[in-house]
Amino acid sequence: MKERLQQIREEAMKQIQESDGLNKLNEVRVNVLGKKGELTTIMKSMKDLSAEERPKFGQMVNETRQAIETLIEETKTKLEAAELELALEKEVIDVTLPSKKQKVGHVHPNQLAQKEVEDIFIGMGYEVEEGPEIEYDYYNFEALNIPPNHPAKDEQDTFYITPDIVLRTQTSSVQIHAMEKGKLPLRMIAPGRVFRSDEVDATHSPSFHQIEGLVVDKGITFADLKGTLEVFAKKMFGEDTKVKFRPHHFPFTEPSAEMDMSCFKCGGKGCRFCKGSGWIEILGCGMVHPDVLKRCNIDTNEYSGFAFGVGLERIALLKYEIDDMRLLYENDDRFLDQF
Ligand code: DAH
Repeated sequence: MKERLQQIREEAMKQIQESDGLNKLNEVRVNVLGKKGELTTIMKSMKDLSAEERPKFGQMVNETRQAIETLIEETKTKLEAAELELALEKEVIDVTLPSKKQKVGHVHPNQLAQKEVEDIFIGMGYEVEEGPEIEYDYYNFEALNIPPNHPAKDEQDTFYITPDIVLRTQTSSVQIHAMEKGKLPLRMIAPGRVFRSDEVDATHSPSFHQIEGLVVDKGITFADLKGTLEVFAKKMFGEDTKVKFRPHHFPFTEPSAEMDMSCFKCGGKGCRFCKGSGWIEILGCGMVHPDVLKRCNIDTNEYSGFAFGVGLERIALLKYEIDDMRLLYENDDRFLDQF
């Protein structure tokens, strides 16, 4: 039995030393020290020994057990350290590797143009207003002198939500909201999205943006309108820009006009940009119709005003020399990266 014990001891020590991982080591431990392990089995057979031999042998078994346990513990510590080392090596971060480049966004040309227009008018003492995109017929049409059967309602191919509620077709609706607040004098611009049931092409889209302008004060004349819009055109497109006003018709202004500016590309000689005419149509404007003022409880004996409306996309296309409006909506990185 002594020999068997010695054999178990040697065999166990060898296997422990050869263990190449914690799992293997545990296997050895169970095989030798476990409930059904070799050492346990040999302990059980001690009952066959004489009373004299039993304690001695017991002591030997205990020593063996202790020696094996000690070696297992030592080996376990070593293996754990090695495993940790390996894990750390695997997880090492190379701080000298080049980082992944973060893509920086760009300001959309529409926003660029809007900001420029806003800055110009803020510089002249205007405030920036907002109005709802979903609008009552009253604000989008009726209060602006466009009654139910007015042909302008057809021209503006409206998206209806209910017979009385529309997606606004023009930012002119904000004029009414501003005047209804009852604070005069009024100097405001209102940039915003408008909607018309147009097919998409190089110059049309069912949703685009306008910037509305409105001034109401005592003694406002057409000369104020001309002077203001001339300053705007020069600041936006260069000091050499000339403007001219053509008579036009809008239901909510009287008189009404369209403003053209000399082509910033050819200086008025005629080119591809201005289709050879030397002039570019830029905005609609006029003196606020007295009926519109009266509807907003403004005393027309004392007050008068002018208004204008300009297409934001039109400004952006001209300013940044983009020849297809669809580019402004597709948000292709390769296009936007240029701004
Ligand atoms: N609302 C007009 C449109 O959508 C543009 C416009 C013209 C606005 C003349 C005005 C104005 O304020 O006075 O075509």
